[in-house]
Amino acid sequence: MMKRNFLLVLVTLVGICAEAQNVSISKARFQKGDDLSWAKPETNDASWKEIDMTKNWDDQGYAINKAYAWYRVHLTIPSSLLKGADQQKIVVFNLPKADDTDECYLNGKLIGKTGSMPGDKAGYRSAWSTPRNYPVDAKTGGIRWDADNVIAIRVYNGGEPGGLFDNPLTVRVPNAAEGLSLRFTDVNEGQAHCDIELSNAYPLTTSGTLAVSITDRDTGKKVGSLTKKLSPKQGKPVSVSIPYDKKKVCLLEATYTDSKSGVTISKRLPLKYILTPPAPATPRFNGAPLFGVRPGSPVIYRFPVSGERPMKFTAANLPAGLKLSESDGVLSGKIDKAGDLTFTVTAENAKGKASQEFTLKVGDRMIGLTPPMGWNSWNCWALSVSQEKVMSSAQALLDKGLADYGYCYMNIDDGWEAEQRNPDGTIAVNEKFPSMKALGDWLHERGLKFGIYSSPGDYTCGGYLGSIDHELQDAESYNSWGVDYLKYDWCGYGRAHAKERDKGVASYVRPYLLMQKYLREQPRDIFYSLCQYGMAKVWEWGRFVDANSWRTTGDIYDAWVSMYDIGFKRQAGLAPYAAPGHWNDPDMLIVGKVGWSSNLRDSRLTPDEQYTHITLWTLLASNMLIGCDIAQMDDFTIGLLCNNEVNAINQDILGKQADRVSKVGDIEVWSRPLADGGTAIGIFNVGDEDKQVNIADYVSKNFTIRDLWRQKNLSADELNCTIPTHGCKYLKVK
Ligand code: GLA
Repeated sequence: MMKRNFLLVLVTLVGICAEAQNVSISKARFQKGDDLSWAKPETNDASWKEIDMTKNWDDQGYAINKAYAWYRVHLTIPSSLLKGADQQKIVVFNLPKADDTDECYLNGKLIGKTGSMPGDKAGYRSAWSTPRNYPVDAKTGGIRWDADNVIAIRVYNGGEPGGLFDNPLTVRVPNAAEGLSLRFTDVNEGQAHCDIELSNAYPLTTSGTLAVSITDRDTGKKVGSLTKKLSPKQGKPVSVSIPYDKKKVCLLEATYTDSKSGVTISKRLPLKYILTPPAPATPRFNGAPLFGVRPGSPVIYRFPVSGERPMKFTAANLPAGLKLSESDGVLSGKIDKAGDLTFTVTAENAKGKASQEFTLKVGDRMIGLTPPMGWNSWNCWALSVSQEKVMSSAQALLDKGLADYGYCYMNIDDGWEAEQRNPDGTIAVNEKFPSMKALGDWLHERGLKFGIYSSPGDYTCGGYLGSIDHELQDAESYNSWGVDYLKYDWCGYGRAHAKERDKGVASYVRPYLLMQKYLREQPRDIFYSLCQYGMAKVWEWGRFVDANSWRTTGDIYDAWVSMYDIGFKRQAGLAPYAAPGHWNDPDMLIVGKVGWSSNLRDSRLTPDEQYTHITLWTLLASNMLIGCDIAQMDDFTIGLLCNNEVNAINQDILGKQADRVSKVGDIEVWSRPLADGGTAIGIFNVGDEDKQVNIADYVSKNFTIRDLWRQKNLSADELNCTIPTHGCKYLKVK
């Protein structure tokens, strides 16, 4: 009786809403702590507090961190739910999301679990953003039809905020197609094709037709299709594959129709497309016509030249002290006196030859005269980086031809240090990096450069040792290993900084100035990359600590919101602070296979967003650090990263960063002047709808207007065009 009264009160209080096929509830009883007996229906929860399951518990006054709490819901599940459902086999309990992991019990019986708890064999693993759909057999799953059911949810919070959130708890009887989902794998390598997988999360029978079509987005014409009869069963996904032309800009649409109920599910995917024309077989110089070095520092410069191999490199008037390797075009040696040394380098292969007049600029402030190009381990491997992974990416950089476009820095991010320093205080490496010196030599032999990561604090962001109180020793170690690039990440320095009485700009400058002194004392050129997320307007003082670049924001990730916020919103107005040798750094690239772990996946940016990313980053004179596994790089990503005309904007020797020149509605225009008198212009559609744009509204028709991605001049009738959502046009005007 008592229980029934309670249920009635609860029903009125929380307003259960019952539609034809679902019952939904957002309020529950709540108790901190952990006791598995709370799963039992007979547990007396009358004294438990009331809580809203759609809002994190932090927002409701419960700061429960790294700990458990339980929710209990009393619910009448009406048998009328089954009426009208096309199959009456299962009932789905759709839980709110849980920050971070949950276990769900129905009348004392475990019906589902997402993520894993600290006590589990696999150890704690958050699954805070995963939707929870727990199917239960309608007859044997333990549902008490038309009576009181107790749904008890055990939640563990591994880091703020915590608890259930987002959607209410819904109990529903699904139709045949509801557990179906479509997944695409776009394989842009060799003969491009898209694999379409249809899976069924529920033990419901369905059979129907999957119809796939491919439409050319430029012409609106259908360019491919297939239909197939399928019957996906729970746990046994079925798939089809459809080829496509990677030079066309296409949209794929897949629709599955359940033949009995007529219910459909469908999904669309803009396919990857390659605009960059293939490089000629003849040699072509793809790099800037200059490179800077400090007097007395070793010169390591690999001439970026595409074209068929083998290739022979020769130089006319090569200054004394320098050597050019004939087979791979690596310039080495050292020059003791400041000044400009100009000479001509020629590359020749079976198909022809090409030359570049080149200047080696020798002087004290000559590091990074054009933005650095290369790779960093963070966006792909994060803390799982190892020497093996660095070497495999370096080898792929050479084999796949990226080094022929100027990518040369191979930078190890966080995760290389040992747990303790050596007894003499020098930094030690962990077992994943057998020898830094050998790695440095291996890279240099191939004309590549070696980058490393540390923090001015006690620990790095990943919890590895930082350089505090060992700055000189670390700079000396880097020199002895042959390091050419240091990313110096504030992170753990936050603790030292918290103790500062005066938190003015000087307190932000100090740790960076200290390392600058020791780095610059080393007899080699170490590109100095500040990483402190833009604090104290680092762009205003970065060049005065002789930093070669400084991160202007927090970390990027592969979603439009992140790229838009960092690239468009936070870079506007920063152009005046960039100059040769000193660059704003809007963070590393998020194209290709990324994942911040040992599990990599395709970047979640759409192909149009990826074109926008590279367009904007080259306009911004940003560091161009690839953040993916190069060994797994597909043709689409190579096309994005190896367009010589696009990269030439990034490497333009005038060194003027682009700024936003107009923003009307969703159309933003960014432009920068170039050394040859031309102007690079990006016209971006940052809105959620495709937009019709007339280029003549932004550029006089009297100029030569070149489409940089397609590498062709635009005719007057090509100026009126559609820019897809989050896409762009990249132009050079002269
Ligand atoms: C910070 C930096 C990242 C990366 C990680 C490593 O978050 O901003 O780029 O270096 O630390 O822990």
